[in-house]
Amino acid sequence: MYVCVCHGVTDRAIREAAASGVRDVAGLAIETGLGTGCGSCTDLAQELLDAEQPCFTLPVLKAA
Ligand code: FES
Repeated sequence: MYVCVCHGVTDRAIREAAASGVRDVAGLAIETGLGTGCGSCTDLAQELLDAEQPCFTLPVLKAA
């Protein structure tokens, strides 16, 4: 689906950007132009980026 109609950026393109290290809308703007038109797409774009963030687990410490 198109997330940014102004620049033709799809959810797939956002997920690919997230996989390559983009973490915020400013990064998407640099990579794709997303958000630099009317700006109505930025909230959804950030939600999609957040959903692609890797989950971190805390390491388990072993007793000596
Ligand atoms: S829909 Fe993305 S800038 Fe307008």
